[in-house]
Amino acid sequence: AEIKRIRDSLLGWYALNRRELPWREPEEDKEKRAYRVWVSEVMLQQTRVQTVVQYFDRWMNKWPTIRHLADASLEEVNEMWAGLGYYRRARFLLEGAKMIVAEGCPFPKTVSSLQQYPGIGKYTAGAVASIAFKEVVPVVDGNVVRVISRLKAISANPKDSATVKRFWELATQLVDPLNPGDFNQALMELGATVCTPSSPSCCSCPVSDQCSALSVSRHDSSVSVTDY
Ligand code: ADE
Repeated sequence: AEIKRIRDSLLGWYALNRRELPWREPEEDKEKRAYRVWVSEVMLQQTRVQTVVQYFDRWMNKWPTIRHLADASLEEVNEMWAGLGYYRRARFLLEGAKMIVAEGCPFPKTVSSLQQYPGIGKYTAGAVASIAFKEVVPVVDGNVVRVISRLKAISANPKDSATVKRFWELATQLVDPLNPGDFNQALMELGATVCTPSSPSCCSCPVSDQCSALSVSRHDSSVSVTDY
């Protein structure tokens, strides 16, 4: 019951507060939707949203489908990527597109099949499978770790591998079974815009009444939400 309340609050908040981003535009063609989510999530891994939007639009103008991308050269892809850094990500996108198209498509739809491709780890696979194909799987990035740490008042080093495993388990329990893609994006969006690292806006938070860190800080003035 408590989990259901968290899910519903987050999904309701996200429906009203989601940012309009090009990869969130409705897309009927499932292949195209998956391709767009994949490219956006890879770009977002080391780069801020505002920066990604410009690169994403240019990328999609040049290579609107995975088939277009599969015909590109490494030089073209690197040129398009110039300024984003971590050029391996661009090469992995190209290699993955070539593999998927060579296999005759369709786009891989599950976490386990997605993880077979170069550069697609647990995070990217979870994002594509949940957002594009509604597979009920979690996504854990830095934002999600912070939001869950605070919700559950967990003070553990998120760089420790046992802690990371624990967050994947907690996120697995939390993910909404009917709308995993929006739920995962809601958690990331909350972390990016409300539950921020140094000055969170708890007054605007849809799950503040269920937040253990906020509760602890109210009872103990020596503790702050940002301690988690
Ligand atoms: N950060 C990375 N991917 C994201 C997404 N799909 N929504 C919000 N924030 C994100």
